[in-house]
Amino acid sequence: MEKVRASITAVHGWVPDYILSNTELEKLVDTTDEWITSRTGIKERHILKGEGKGSSDIATEAVNGLLKKRNINPEDIELIICATTTPDLQFPATANIISDKTGMKNAFGFDINAACSGFLYALVTGTKFIESGQYKKVIIVGVDKMSSIIDYTDRSTCVIFGDGGGAVLLEPDNSGNGVMDSILRSDGAGRAYLHQKAGGSALPASHETIDAKQHFVYQEGQAVFKFAVTKMADVSAEIMERNHLTANDVAWLVPHQANKRIIDATANRMGVGKEKVMLNIQKYGNTTNGTIPLCLWEWENRLHKGDVLILAAFGGGFTWGSVYLKWAYNTNN
Ligand code: ACO
Repeated sequence: MEKVRASITAVHGWVPDYILSNTELEKLVDTTDEWITSRTGIKERHILKGEGKGSSDIATEAVNGLLKKRNINPEDIELIICATTTPDLQFPATANIISDKTGMKNAFGFDINAACSGFLYALVTGTKFIESGQYKKVIIVGVDKMSSIIDYTDRSTCVIFGDGGGAVLLEPDNSGNGVMDSILRSDGAGRAYLHQKAGGSALPASHETIDAKQHFVYQEGQAVFKFAVTKMADVSAEIMERNHLTANDVAWLVPHQANKRIIDATANRMGVGKEKVMLNIQKYGNTTNGTIPLCLWEWENRLHKGDVLILAAFGGGFTWGSVYLKWAYNTNN
């Protein structure tokens, strides 16, 4: 009998209505649509508006859609893991807030913070709970309201990020599909190049930190870019090699959407043609933990049972990783 694996058995995503286009950004900072498009591949991004709205509101839409799609009672969910870099609050965990808003009264939950690689870290963590046999219905959320930590006077970061998120349901599978292998890595020395300076225990919020704009994303773009290109490609190639996969075996590359040039470099290294690369960065920008579930959601109708997917991500920390999975279902709508 096949080993019990964790399969994604449903996916749903959500982005807010408000669209911030490159043309709009041209009015806010010294930039051009041409610069943003050629350097990043981004044309527009969605922004969550509304007093008191946080990442949990995006996630709640995604989770409710997921449960409705599969006609699942929220009380049947046993565990929810939320990958986010922009939690509603420092504590409690955003997973708890989502549980409350969606009626998952029997689930325990926690957050994972691994910046843009968070969804992969959470997916692998959830997988282990399923493989152990302890739980049978686990929801993994990847969500961010990046607009809450972006300085819209800083042209080097405000053009990149957007708000959005998605959720997947993990269930046991003994048909030979599901999560087959994963590689997760981190290097804390990379924190120098991408971080949020204040608001944590080392430098709590104060008038001074606000005045110095230390609650926004700080990024040294070129250093991050170089590391991302190398590391995301490395782990994607490594997971293929150790599972004896050729580019022909791969149905889809599902890359974190940080920069189209990083995605192209990863696909080239894997030898995977661009027709097999999920790409929606032009519409959403970098939604951090949201990018991979949003891709799966948008491509769901084109995925077939048994398709080989390579998920790959890179983010602040530095963190990076890849996941090899075989898609578990066909969609009939
Ligand atoms: N419009 C116009 N000019 C700009 C803009 C802009 N929006 N932003 C920067 N520039 C200028 C710079 O000031 C610089 O000008 P100078 O030459 O006069 O000094 C010039 O463009 C080149 O700047 P670079 O930073 O070298 O531009 P680069 O080609 O590296 O692109 C970018 C910048 C898009 C940020 C790129 O470095 C990148 O994508 N980095 C990786 C980002 C990433 O993947 N982050 C990880 C995930 S995020 C997370 O984990 C939360």
